[in-house]
Amino acid sequence: MFSKETYIARRKKLAASVSGGILVFLGNNDSPANYPDNTYIFRQDSTFLYYFGLDLPHLAAVMDIDSGGEMIFGDDVDMDDIIWMGPQKSMAEQAAAVGVGKTYPFARLAAFVTDAAAKGRTVHYIPQYRADNMILFGEMLGISPRLVNDGASEEFIRAIVSQRLIKEPCEIAEIDRACDLGYAMHYTAMQLLKPGLLEQEVVGAMEGVVISGGYMTSFATILSQHGETLHNHVHDKVLTPGKLCVIDAGAEIASHYCSDFTRTLPVGGKFSQKQKEIYTIVSTANSFAAEMARPGITYREVHLAASRLMLQGLKNVGLVKGDIDEALALGVQGLFMPHGLGHNMGLDVHDMENLGENYVGYDPGQERSRQLGLGSLRMARRLVPGHVITDEPGIYFIPALIEQWKAEGKFADFINYQALEGYYDFGGIRLEDDILITPSGCRRLGSRRLPITVDEVEAAMAC
Ligand code: GLY
Ligand code: MN
Repeated sequence: MFSKETYIARRKKLAASVSGGILVFLGNNDSPANYPDNTYIFRQDSTFLYYFGLDLPHLAAVMDIDSGGEMIFGDDVDMDDIIWMGPQKSMAEQAAAVGVGKTYPFARLAAFVTDAAAKGRTVHYIPQYRADNMILFGEMLGISPRLVNDGASEEFIRAIVSQRLIKEPCEIAEIDRACDLGYAMHYTAMQLLKPGLLEQEVVGAMEGVVISGGYMTSFATILSQHGETLHNHVHDKVLTPGKLCVIDAGAEIASHYCSDFTRTLPVGGKFSQKQKEIYTIVSTANSFAAEMARPGITYREVHLAASRLMLQGLKNVGLVKGDIDEALALGVQGLFMPHGLGHNMGLDVHDMENLGENYVGYDPGQERSRQLGLGSLRMARRLVPGHVITDEPGIYFIPALIEQWKAEGKFADFINYQALEGYYDFGGIRLEDDILITPSGCRRLGSRRLPITVDEVEAAMAC
């Protein structure tokens, strides 16, 4: 938790950017896995954490913009709780630690919100992603839980997004820590990725690093010798010499700030010549994007410039043909990289995605493309200092997609379908760093960059 002044200042800024009414924040509850007392690991809602800092289940908070009041709703523990959980601080003490003077039992929340709505006051809330909180809002507002998200407040969403997008120095220090833990996680994989082991054994060792040094992984680990499947969570294969293994994994530390790195490693420690050619195109695109990322440019422009560079590289190896600018405008690159260059990152690995991808990643007036690849770009905004984003270009050979485009004769003037047949068992390559936009450019987060060049990776894997 940060100092109480941090939370007070954040709420003051938020209050100044909303026109009136009440802001309602629901924290998360324990979520049962297979019976009520056997729960998934608790994860607090990130917006609740950002403004109120308390990392406990069954809390809510209200800011009354018209009166300036702030209150936390939550219950003090009883003797039964103390027997099972040990002594706990009172709600009043917990609230005081984040600068809030008024607390009420959780059961009072519903009456407070219902009364405000009945008086015609604006009840601002953000989209809900957990069923229990949708039901609670539905009850408080007298509407079906299914309709709750239709009433989410755009004014509130935009105010939160503009504040949380620009990371404070105390947040950047936490993200640097999360990246250092992510580094240790990936370095473990580099040393362990030996033929004969199961993919799952490497996943287990990597996740052990995070559990020992942090809170949990920032998302379900992706580790696969079928990297052409973008988010492959199946880890049941034996590591086979000569295969490429995509490892996309991140750490979430105790403060809940995240990291998200991807490296693609050759099982056995040595790239083949054919792998080196494609790998070098992607690693060059990764570095090129970091060189371009600076205040004033949009991340959409960086995505397109990195895509152009990769198309040129693919042309150099004979997989793409024709005019590169024309190919880029048509979206030929979507065949090879059907995802965006990156996303915002912070308290969530895809920061604030629960508030709506376009609110978070697009400036007002910026249109989202429908092209394959560019349409999946989660962060397109004009960059400003304090943005934390990922830089994750990739090249994938997805046989089903190639076959579909070939059958349709799609972009036949630009794609060498015959040469692509030699890549159907290649897999995919993605290389991801996390960057902070600074006043003069950007810097990679974490105190060390994971090995990325062919030589660096082979040397790290030989240790
Ligand atoms: N690293 C997973 C993702 O960005 O979706
Ligand atoms: Mn990512």
